[in-house]
Formats: sequence, structure tokens, C-alpha cells
Amino acid sequence: MSSVKQEVESASVAIRPMHELDVPVVVDIERAAYQFPWSEGIFRDCLRVGYVCRVVEADSALAGYGIMSVGAGEAHILNVCIADEYRGRGLARRVLVYLLERARASGMHEAFLEVRPSNTAAAHLYKSMGFEQVGVRRGYYQAAAGREDAAVLRRLLLPDAK
Ligand SMILES: CC(C)(COP(=O)(O)OP(=O)(O)OC[C@H]1O[C@@H](n2cnc3c(N)ncnc32)[C@H](O)[C@@H]1OP(=O)(O)O)[C@@H](O)C(=O)NCCC(=O)NCCS
Repeated sequence: MSSVKQEVESASVAIRPMHELDVPVVVDIERAAYQFPWSEGIFRDCLRVGYVCRVVEADSALAGYGIMSVGAGEAHILNVCIADEYRGRGLARRVLVYLLERARASGMHEAFLEVRPSNTAAAHLYKSMGFEQVGVRRGYYQAAAGREDAAVLRRLLLPDAK
């Protein structure tokens, strides 16, 4: 186990709003995580339009982020990403629990997200959080060879659900 991972096991974890000043670090994490990353402009737009943009800190280091839109009774989880050296320690689950609770408290009845079927880590995470596949968006994602479908997942947000 790397020393960073050993430290994270005992790290204090906090979720706080993302600020403009966080965007360069967020973009670095995004570029390292995805073959087709969001641009810096997309993150700035998410902040500007008032999406729920949060970062997760482990011992004050920015370790990842989550972005969600809410409206018309639905929450859409748009991005959840954890820096490679902080993975496998429950941080993505913490971010998702936070976002779903926030959506539920805002009166949303259900949450949706898209995931690449090839992204097994994310698919396991979402399934373990109660998401179920409700559809497919054909050719939704860029891929090395052409396009890749997205699985559309949904979870109900019952008043007493976590
Ligand atoms: C997917 C991702 C967010 C998971 O972050 P993480 O902090 O490592 O996840 P957690 O430690 O909270 O793990 C929660 C659950 O996710 C699943 N999971 C995480 N990593 C996994 C892996 N490598 N293989 C299989 N399942 C995995 C497991 O169900 C795990 O639960 P468990 O620990 O009880 O088995 C992270 O790998 C990541 O940022 N990937 C790149 C960006 C991305 O693909 N985001 C999702 C876009 S839809």
C-alpha cells in the first residue's frame, strides 16, 4: 500500500463547495482520470449556473469532486471523480451520499446519471448505492474508436432513504 493511501485511511475527510480557485486542481484530476476530460470552461460554467459543485478534501488536500444539477423533481449526477492516489478509500461513496442527501433535502424525487458500461469501478459504485439501469443512450460518449453507449441509471430518493 502506498504511503498516501495509508495516510488517507486515517485522514480527516471533508466535503465543501467548489470555488473558482479550485478549478485548476480539479482540471488536473479530471485530465488524469478521463480519456475525454471536461474542459476548464465546463467546470467554470457549472459554477456559474449554480450547479451543486463540491470538492472532497482528505487532510485538507483536494482529493476529488462531485457535480450535480437539480430541478423539476430530478437530480442529475454529472461528474464524480477521485484522484488516483485517493481511490479505494470510500471517498466517492462519501461524495455520492452527500449529493443524494442534498438532492433529497431539496425535494428531488429521483436521481439520474450516465455511465460508460466499460467503467466497471463506477458501475459497481452506483449499483452498490442503489442505482438501477433504466435505459441506454446510444453513442453518447466519445471513444477511442467512434462512440460508446451510456447506461442511464436511476435511483429513487425516498424521504427516509440515504
Ligand atoms: C469510480 C471512482 C469515482 C470511484 O472512486 P473511489 O473513491 O475509489 O470509490 P470508493 O472507494 O468510494 O468505492 C466505493 C465503491 O465503488 C466500487 N469500486 C471502486 N473502485 C472499484 C474498482 N476498482 N473495481 C470495482 N469496484 C470499485 C465498489 O463498489 C466500492 O465499494 P466497496 O469498497 O464497498 O467495494 C474512481 O475510480 C474515479 O474517480 N474514476 C475515474 C472517474 C470516473 O470514472 N468517474 C465516474 C464517471 S461515471
